[in-house]
Amino acid sequence: MAKRTHILGTGHFVPERVVKNADLEQLMDTTDAWIQQRTGIQERRWIEKDTGASELALPATKRALEMAGLEAKDLDAIIFATLSPDYNFPGSACLMTDLLGIPGTPALDIRNQCSGFIYGTQIADAWIKAGMYKKVLMIGSEVHSTGVDVTTRGRDVAVIFGDGAAAVIYGASDDESCGVIDAMVGADGSYAKELWLELPGSRYIPRITKEGIDEARHYPAMNGREVFKHAVRKMPESVAMLLERNRLTMDDVNLFIPHQANLRISEAVQKHLGLPDDRVYNNIQKYGNTTAASIPLAMDECVRSGKLKKGDLLAVAAFGAGFTWGAALFRM
Ligand code: UT7
Repeated sequence: MAKRTHILGTGHFVPERVVKNADLEQLMDTTDAWIQQRTGIQERRWIEKDTGASELALPATKRALEMAGLEAKDLDAIIFATLSPDYNFPGSACLMTDLLGIPGTPALDIRNQCSGFIYGTQIADAWIKAGMYKKVLMIGSEVHSTGVDVTTRGRDVAVIFGDGAAAVIYGASDDESCGVIDAMVGADGSYAKELWLELPGSRYIPRITKEGIDEARHYPAMNGREVFKHAVRKMPESVAMLLERNRLTMDDVNLFIPHQANLRISEAVQKHLGLPDDRVYNNIQKYGNTTAASIPLAMDECVRSGKLKKGDLLAVAAFGAGFTWGAALFRM
């Protein structure tokens, strides 16, 4: 059994097509000023041709493998966090075994929206510490652009989300000086309809109707204000709880990466936690909200740019549809 789960490599990939706020002005009644003022987002990436979440994840995974000095065949298991899987079934993790050429590798999809990366990290950490697997590929990948209503009717949601993928390779080690320190997660389904995608739904006969489509129930729907209100409370609460149970304080944290939901949410969380600007990382300006990919994508940018250095304490937190939430601590 391993004592610690180390980060062996990170990688990310976003589609080439940049969609600026001005481009959205051509599709719906919105303005660059509104989007920037309410969300901080300047641009996001959208796929150009049919591309699944698994295909976006492939280059991200290759980059993470390269950093780790590993090959796909070295992986013992795959966890794929997404709310936009390639298909309803089979899961995108399963598709990854084919794309990576490693048939037979255990593959698990998790559907925990913006908190997916933290849920997945907790699972990978438990698997590794239990001695079940030694090297686990953790992916967060989303293709939102094919699923949002890009007319004025859907503008509150459509302007926020972007496509992107990121991967982290976790590995077993007995060296306790770095790695995953702890992770916590939670969920409350009584808020399910505050941010959801209802159709097609297996509870309905039939799962989707023309009437449902006319009513736009096959697009994500969000009560933005309600989500905002809960996010700014739950994220700092989760981090504070996690720090406390590990006998650490905010002063020990070198860098905080909040899930990139909305720059205003990140700023409110930062304020709650009393952190200066140089200890918080945001990149939503460039990518929008990439849900399960947002935290590992930011982690990879920080690792590659040198913003995260060996020995740093990294805290991450997420909140999103479900509601689900979570936080994790890493020693780099
Ligand atoms: O990862 C977790 C997932 N989601 C979130 O975390 C999102 C959390 N919530 C939010 O980020 C914000 O609530 C939004 C950015 C979605 C909306 O900002 P808001 O300040 O809460 O605006 P609002 O929904 O109260 O809408 C204000 C006005 C409305 O018009 P009226 O009713 O005042 O005339 C909206 O129709 O802004 C209008 N509006 C827009 N206007 C231009 C909504 N979307 C847009 C848009 N462009 N894209």
